[in-house]
Amino acid sequence: MVNKHVQFSEIINKGLSRRRFIQTSSTVAAFFTATPMASAIAKTTLKEPSINFKQVPVSTADTAIVPEGYQADVLISWGSPLFADSPAFSPSANSDAQLKQFGDNNDGMAFFPLTNERAVLAVNNEYTNYEYLLPNQGKTLSADDVKKAQAAVGNSIVELVYKNGHWIVNQNGRLNRRITANTPMEITGVAAGHPLLKTKADPTGTRALGTFANCANGATPWGTYLTCEENFDDFFGTDTNVAVDSNQERYGISPENKDYRWYEHDPRFDIAQNPNEPNRFGWVVEIDPMNPTSIPKKRTALGRFKHENAAVTINNDGYVVVYLGDDERGEHLYRFVSKNKYNPSNQEANRDLLEEGTLYVAKFDAKDGELKGTGQWIELTFGKNGLTAENGFASQAEIMIFARKAATHVGATTMDRPEWVAVNPHTSEVFCTLTNNKNRGVKPNQPVDAVNPREKNPYGHILRWNPSNGNHTAATFDWDLYLIAGNPTVHKDSLMAGSKNINKDNMFNCPDGLGFDKDGRLWILTDGDDSNKGNFAGMGNNQMLCGNPVTGEIRRFLTGPIACEITGITFSHDSKTMFVGVQHPGEEQAPSHFPDGGHSTPRSSIMRITRKDGGVIGA
Ligand code: FEO
Ligand code: CA
Ligand code: CA
Repeated sequence: MVNKHVQFSEIINKGLSRRRFIQTSSTVAAFFTATPMASAIAKTTLKEPSINFKQVPVSTADTAIVPEGYQADVLISWGSPLFADSPAFSPSANSDAQLKQFGDNNDGMAFFPLTNERAVLAVNNEYTNYEYLLPNQGKTLSADDVKKAQAAVGNSIVELVYKNGHWIVNQNGRLNRRITANTPMEITGVAAGHPLLKTKADPTGTRALGTFANCANGATPWGTYLTCEENFDDFFGTDTNVAVDSNQERYGISPENKDYRWYEHDPRFDIAQNPNEPNRFGWVVEIDPMNPTSIPKKRTALGRFKHENAAVTINNDGYVVVYLGDDERGEHLYRFVSKNKYNPSNQEANRDLLEEGTLYVAKFDAKDGELKGTGQWIELTFGKNGLTAENGFASQAEIMIFARKAATHVGATTMDRPEWVAVNPHTSEVFCTLTNNKNRGVKPNQPVDAVNPREKNPYGHILRWNPSNGNHTAATFDWDLYLIAGNPTVHKDSLMAGSKNINKDNMFNCPDGLGFDKDGRLWILTDGDDSNKGNFAGMGNNQMLCGNPVTGEIRRFLTGPIACEITGITFSHDSKTMFVGVQHPGEEQAPSHFPDGGHSTPRSSIMRITRKDGGVIGA
């Protein structure tokens, strides 16, 4: 391992020397600009976005800081009233109150405009912090505590109205809705009705209750919202001594999971009593935010794993392509291609495009000694690539339910925790954050390789690929690394100091959220170590940066409050308001009172960011 480590450091140095030779004055450039990959991309029409704000310094303050000329206000926080008759926030609210309030730990979100003055914001509410949600910090749980926790997760559909120059919450909006861990859902697609999805309460295997662990998201051009179920295993457990099989183990299902203990009051979450219930989670769920009585649909054709987000793009030939990360150490990167084509002139006809299609998983190859190369998408279809009954795969439904196992069988590359994927709206390039991985180079199935080049990867990196011929349904792609995060003030070794586009003024760790705006600026949100010590000295609180996908320049745009993660990003239709999530400020009882100050309970919040001159964000 050590040899490889040194070897990749040398590669970075060589690459940088070569670039220095080629370039003259520019000090900020893409990592490995002088590679065949970069020039191949340069042949397509690249639109370089303008980035004109002044970078903010790192911060350890308990507030959200944005550049000069910008303002950041709280749009809504955990527990804020969502309906006209909702009670005001109170840390001691019961489950009935929580059902009428904005959910906890907002994560991915998407803005759906209705008119210039009316819109819907669909938001994920990922999990809860018992230390703030419950009166005795969850040390013991009452039945209503569990109900409150179940009411605080899922989604909040929030109607917005544009008034006095700002988007604000409209508590009288008829589209306001809470979706919780108990909302009826339909299981659709190839795995629907499979025996592994049947329970005592649902012998059909097609009617699930609820969604939770809703991490990041997607939005479709036909106006639906995609919410992605990530760490669902945390919500299941048991006090019964029960064995779990290797399929369940692969998804983290264990009697040892004691974080939320819903099983104490709700047998649906007791894996001894309902061993198939966890199989009904770990899906991408499609929600119609324009119809508050619609039944959300779990789309099993997109596979079951710990879904981060769902990056949707319509390929040139009309097929819907969805890129999907599975955020766990050593898990994989996936692509879904729809069976049917998108019809831009009939949105109703697109409603079930995610019902049928083909799932693929990525395998990366590299030229010897280079941090770039080619890759292929391997099809996860029953009867192909060894996914046969003889090899333990009984049907397409089982391949979807245990997609991780199928991915391993076909030789997919193990990755450093794929978080968000984002597709450049102006090119065919796709970016994915690989947030960190302490197991890299430690576990035998996670060797140091070109695409995951750093042992124990403490800082994360951002992968970029370009599908062959710009075709998102192609079997192959070229890839390189857009950046390697690092700390140049602590490390001299270039692999730990980070790629050339990282410097003492813009450094950060653990990229997680990722999104392009309409102009093609790449926004990078972090969920990293905010200790500001050791490897992370000088990095401060979690933050958001803006990347130029053409030059590689990275500039810090926002710093968050104490012990938060910055996650969730969307824009108003005119790009003049940015919505950004501040999740779990004060986590693990760190001293945050964001956003209300004083001695208040810290609350996850959505920030509304605008320019004082009313201009486009970032431009
Ligand atoms: Fe919910 Fe992988 O972040
Ligand atoms: Ca995340
Ligand atoms: Ca993360």
